[in-house]
Parts: sequence; structure tokens; C-alpha cells
Amino acid sequence: MKIMVCGKGGSGKSSVSVLMARALSEKHKVYLIDSDESNVLLPKLLGVKPPKPIVEYLGGKKSIFSKGEVNIVNALAKAGKGIILENLPTGYVSTSTEGIKLVTIGKVRNFGEGCACPLNFLTKTLLKNLVLDKDEIVLVDTDAGIEHVGRGVEEGCDTILAVVDPTAEALMLAKILKETFQNLNKKFWLVLNKATPKIIEPIREKAKEMNLEVNGVIGFNEEIFESCMKGEVLDAKGAMFDVEEILKTIGLV
Ligand SMILES: Nc1ncnc2c1ncn2[C@@H]1O[C@H](COP(=O)(O)OP(=O)(O)OP(=O)(O)O)[C@@H](O)[C@H]1O
Ligand SMILES: [Mg+2]
Repeated sequence: MKIMVCGKGGSGKSSVSVLMARALSEKHKVYLIDSDESNVLLPKLLGVKPPKPIVEYLGGKKSIFSKGEVNIVNALAKAGKGIILENLPTGYVSTSTEGIKLVTIGKVRNFGEGCACPLNFLTKTLLKNLVLDKDEIVLVDTDAGIEHVGRGVEEGCDTILAVVDPTAEALMLAKILKETFQNLNKKFWLVLNKATPKIIEPIREKAKEMNLEVNGVIGFNEEIFESCMKGEVLDAKGAMFDVEEILKTIGLV
């Protein structure tokens, strides 16, 4: 299963990706793909050394479009069998203590180096050609908003998990995501994050009015807030109950 974790900037995509990866890793082999071209906290939250970006293995951002899908797949796949993340060269996968494997697409870092479109194309190509065993799950932590939707990055994934913070803006974006991916026959789940008890029902109601269903709730959690503030391993045992409930609701455990 290939799940794209999407949503408004700051809604909690990276935190929720790590928490879900942890919960899923008890029964599945879990890969986390960092497809955010800007942010750098994900390896820290997971407690691993940042892996080398795949874009570098392929010769850098400038060469991605000229290589095209076939050459990218040939460079990353073994013996024409599609891409198997486990087989990426040493240094391009970092493994956490729970066994979660982190892969990074690439980051924009230098003034005038050009846009992130080649990175989006690389993520799309990787997802489309990724071969998974039945018990393997890939979670893709995306960049904020829906630029990646415009690029069709989701083509190769089967499920969208929209992370929504308690704002009208986040719900409106989730509605666009739902409508887009329903038309493409992909599963759609919505998780409300950073929820204080008082706002859960009003947000559920607002979501309903917008033809959205809240599939799970993660409460506002001081531990998540603090780990993100310090830039340390996500220490959020208190949030794991919420995450386990979500996985049960959506039928992943
Ligand atoms: N459940 C939560 N409770 C409290 N604070 C949270 C929770 N989830 C996330 N946060 C806070 O929200 C901030 C943004 O979280 P996170 O980086 O996971 O979001 P994001 O959607 O990945 O952001 P970006 O769009 O920048 O990639 C964190 O720094 C953290 O302080
Ligand atoms: Mg993030």
C-alpha cells in the first residue's frame, strides 16, 4: 500500500507520518519517503541520520528530466524488477530503531538552483515503479499544499491521507484533495490533528457540511509540540492511542 500524507502547511503531516509509521511498524514493514523539498525535520523526528537524497544518486536535479522515467527506473531498479527500496545503495536508506526505513527524494538549497519540479517528477516515477510485498506500507510525507497534485505525483499511490488542523483553510484543501482523488479512484482518509476536546464536534459538523468525513482525531499534544520545538525524536507516547484508533478505523491493523 502506498499512502500519500497530504495537507495544508503545518497541519501535522510530518508528525502524523512518523506516528503512523511507528504504529504500523509493529505489523508491517514500513517505508517513509520524504518528498518535501524544503523541510528537514523528518529524520530527526524519526531518530535517524538523514539519508543521502536519491536525486544525488541519479546525478542531481538538473539531469532528472533529461533522464526520463525509463532511465530513472533502470538506474534504481535491479534486473528489470521495478524499484525495491530495500535495494537502494548504502547511505540512501536510514533505518530507525523500530525498523522504519526512511528515504529522501531531495531538497532545494541554493539560490537560483531552479524549481522543485524535477523532484516531484522523481517522486512520481519512484512511486509508480515501486514494487512492494503484501505486508509493506509506504508513507509519503509531502510538501505543504497541493503543488504536488498539479504535478500528478499521486499517480502511483493508492491512498491519500489528508491531515487537517482545526482551520477552515485545512478543510477546504481537504475537500479539493477528496474530490480530485475520488475521481481517480483512490482511497481518501481524513485525520483531524491538534484537536482540543471542545472543537472536535464542531469540526466534524463543519466537515459533514462540506461532504467530508473525519476518519480519525489526534488531540493537541504537548509532547509533539515540544519534540518539534526542540527538533528531537518525536516522543509522543500520549498520542499513540489516538493513532492506534485511527488505524483500526481505517482498517490498517
Ligand atoms: N497533535 C499535535 N499537537 C500539538 N502540536 C502539534 C501536533 N501535530 C503537530 N503539531 C505542531 O505543529 C507543527 C507542525 O507540525 P508538522 O511539522 O508535523 O506539520 P507539517 O504539516 O509536516 O508541516 P509542513 O507543512 O511545514 O511540512 C509542529 O512544529 C508542532 O509544533
Ligand atoms: Mg512536514
